[in-house]
Amino acid sequence: MQQQIALIEDSLKQLHMVQDKESLESLRISLIGKKGLITQAFAQLTNIDKDSKKQVAAQINQLRKTFEQDFARKKEEITLKELEIRLKKEKIDSSLFRANGFTSNGHPLSQMRDMIVDYFVELNFSLQDGPLIEDDFHNFEALNMPKFHPARNMQDTFYFRDSMLLRTHTSPTQIRTMQTSELPIRMICAGPTFRRDYDVTHSPMFHQCEGLVVESGDHISFAHLKHILEDFVKYIFGENINVRFRSSFFPFTEPSAEVDVSCMFCEAKGCKVCSHTGYLEVLGCGVVDGNVFKAVGLEGVSGYAFGMGIERLTMLKWGINDLRSFYETDLRILEQF
Ligand code: PHE
Repeated sequence: MQQQIALIEDSLKQLHMVQDKESLESLRISLIGKKGLITQAFAQLTNIDKDSKKQVAAQINQLRKTFEQDFARKKEEITLKELEIRLKKEKIDSSLFRANGFTSNGHPLSQMRDMIVDYFVELNFSLQDGPLIEDDFHNFEALNMPKFHPARNMQDTFYFRDSMLLRTHTSPTQIRTMQTSELPIRMICAGPTFRRDYDVTHSPMFHQCEGLVVESGDHISFAHLKHILEDFVKYIFGENINVRFRSSFFPFTEPSAEVDVSCMFCEAKGCKVCSHTGYLEVLGCGVVDGNVFKAVGLEGVSGYAFGMGIERLTMLKWGINDLRSFYETDLRILEQF
């Protein structure tokens, strides 16, 4: 029996050296399994004389207790160590350039936004940002759209309490820039905008890019605007495109125009995309209305502004016919860019 006990004590020493769950389990079986050393030692108690039985039984019991405690401690130690190794191994390195063989040039909308921003930043326009949740003053009032102005109807949006709303265009950033910047101003901004619209060419959330130039004096005219936008549109769609300015209306610009480019799908012959007109509208623009300057307390200044839908430009440039595909994160579509 003493030999048996020595074997058990030996196994208990081994327990401290075990490093993995498999060895731990085989040690457990070798000690307290059906044919384990401790199990057998208990069975052999019947062969021992009465006098020493009690003492030996207590000794084996103690060994069993020690084993159970050490076993539990060891199990926890190994589990923690394995978890640590797994966490290290499975760590996602989001800075990795290439995951699973995919490369990305960015979402088509981001590509278009970057193209637009690059053009204007090179011409010394500063890039401004504004809140997506706007107040009525910045989104409408200051842009010459007082309450109940019919032009608000085209820009129905999502309202919060206290006349806060999701901005319907990037134009409120014009107002904020004029309120906080020194003249002269040359700014652009790009970002999400929201309207109550949903079909193949409209989404409740879409993106605009907006530009504004303001200088003191009355020398900024429609000619400046025309020059820069003509060049910009050719930069986006290529030199072979024809550009035309069509008279239009925006409450915050006077005179106002929409810029059309000759249809790139039918080379201006007339097709479904251009509704057989040969032209496609790409942006809105105009000379800033005096009421807008009045709203921000500017006097003796002149300026022009323009705004465009990033989705629309992207669809036309790369021939995408359903705007919803931009938001479906379908890799088969995104991979083509
Ligand atoms: N904010 C106008 C729109 O969303 C676009 C625009 C911007 C027109 C600036 C003129 C000048 O339709």
